[in-house]
Amino acid sequence: MFQLTRSVTWQALKGLQAKTADDRISDYFAADPQRFEKMSLRVGGLFLDYSKHQISDAVLDKLIELADHSALVQRRAQMFSGDIINVTEDRPVLHTALRNLGEGPLMVDGQDVMPEIQRTREQIRQFSEAVRSGEWTGFSGERIRDVVNIGIGGSDLGPNMACRALLKQRHPELNFHFVSNVDGAHIQKVLSRLDPATTLFIVSTKTFSTQETLLNAKTARRWFVERAGPDADVGAHFIAASTNRKAAMEFGIREENVFEFWAWVGGRYSMWSSIGLPIALAIGFEGFMAMLEGAYAMDQHFLTAPTAANMPVLMALIGIWYINFQGAETQAIVPYDQALHQLPAFLQQLDMESNGKSVDIFGRPVDYTTGPIVWGQTGSNGQHAFFQLLHQGTRYVPIDFIASLKPEAGMEDHHFALLTNMLAQANAFMEGSAKGGELDPYSCPGNRPSSTLLLDELTPKNLGALIALYEHKVFVQGVIWNINSFDQWGVQLGKRIAGEISERLDAHSQDFDASTQGLLRLVRAQLPTRDLPSAPPTSRGNKRRKA
Ligand code: F6P
Repeated sequence: MFQLTRSVTWQALKGLQAKTADDRISDYFAADPQRFEKMSLRVGGLFLDYSKHQISDAVLDKLIELADHSALVQRRAQMFSGDIINVTEDRPVLHTALRNLGEGPLMVDGQDVMPEIQRTREQIRQFSEAVRSGEWTGFSGERIRDVVNIGIGGSDLGPNMACRALLKQRHPELNFHFVSNVDGAHIQKVLSRLDPATTLFIVSTKTFSTQETLLNAKTARRWFVERAGPDADVGAHFIAASTNRKAAMEFGIREENVFEFWAWVGGRYSMWSSIGLPIALAIGFEGFMAMLEGAYAMDQHFLTAPTAANMPVLMALIGIWYINFQGAETQAIVPYDQALHQLPAFLQQLDMESNGKSVDIFGRPVDYTTGPIVWGQTGSNGQHAFFQLLHQGTRYVPIDFIASLKPEAGMEDHHFALLTNMLAQANAFMEGSAKGGELDPYSCPGNRPSSTLLLDELTPKNLGALIALYEHKVFVQGVIWNINSFDQWGVQLGKRIAGEISERLDAHSQDFDASTQGLLRLVRAQLPTRDLPSAPPTSRGNKRRKA
């Protein structure tokens, strides 16, 4: 059976790592004046500079060979055509279908899924236009002014990030709020500022069984009924994005206001589906479609560009070089763009929930490291917080710098400072402080790698392309590692045990370890059992349940 780490290419890369360990990135530039031109790439409105990496030409060639010898071509075709590649959950993975703007059918289980995707798109168009125009009114006849998305994980992070990124294009009469944390302080704070007559709640949950979301949704409904009165029309103020129509209707949502999506859309890949409804409400249906268009264009690039000029594949290979051959444990995401401040959190879930796996698709333990710890925050702030460790600490952290070129009118001086700071940092990380001179103990060693991703402008289209780029990067890494990037059994375990602990709180259950029992006693002493929320029913044992 094929073993990745025993393959000729893998072994050659190990050899190259030893050979190039002392290479300085800046020497690569000195030796090759064309390096920037050779190691940069434009796709639509995105420009990637990947020249500041400790990657020689020979290393790059071998990395490309690694991709070419992997199952990438086959697995990519399988994903786009709806084959079951999420093997543990026995599902296709078709977020790309949601942004498919091509003409042809897409058959899943003998059925063309495109008509229902188009139907839901049309439902999103009609609804978003009605709310934005003020035609959709609440129980008092007033227009909607506040939209509250209640969801968690993939049902929060994507629309939350995108609405913040595109805030400047938001409808001037609509405000957006995102409630995810089960900590009551979160929803309390949001509700305290709202008027029920002008508030619309979107209960965003693929399964309609996630404890945090259901509890927040019930609290919102109670708040609404208490303030609006028992006769007020809950149906005019609560809608849902879910695959579970029945549960949404049992909650009190009208059938026509359940915005459907499908089991083959993974939670962290769902912003292109009805889960993206807040985006359509914020920037309009055309803006939402432009985001899909950008993602579709990136999909086409990913499908057709040769390995050596394929942006997601190159980013995946660079990551693999650091994770598997240079021992990097983490990947920093540093946007020099305040509007992208939620992007690191979004990419953290995308990457870590997808590739945080230690068995391959056959369930066998892998003997190589997989997904990195993804973290980060905006660059300006990071410079005055964690950059010190990146410059002089003992860790080796590759960085993705991300920025948009076009300044906001009237803010050109800020934008210039922002971008020059980013370029200064990328340069400093590479060259260090001892340019040509002797290193004293306090100088910065440099030779720390980074990519720079520039968006011509932060438009819905370019944002769509950016997100699709990272989705495919994560996918390619998963293929090379031969893991299933589309399940999340670790998260499921936490969900199950939370349910079990809630159920057993009263019973003085001996099922849990002594520490959990002791801590539970302290919790019980503070919380009268009758006030405890009921958790979704669970069954004991190791049964795996799908999200
Ligand atoms: O975090 C695990 C997960 O299953 C995600 O994939 C999903 O986005 C999130 O929980 C929320 O689940 P749901 O959308 O079903 O409420």
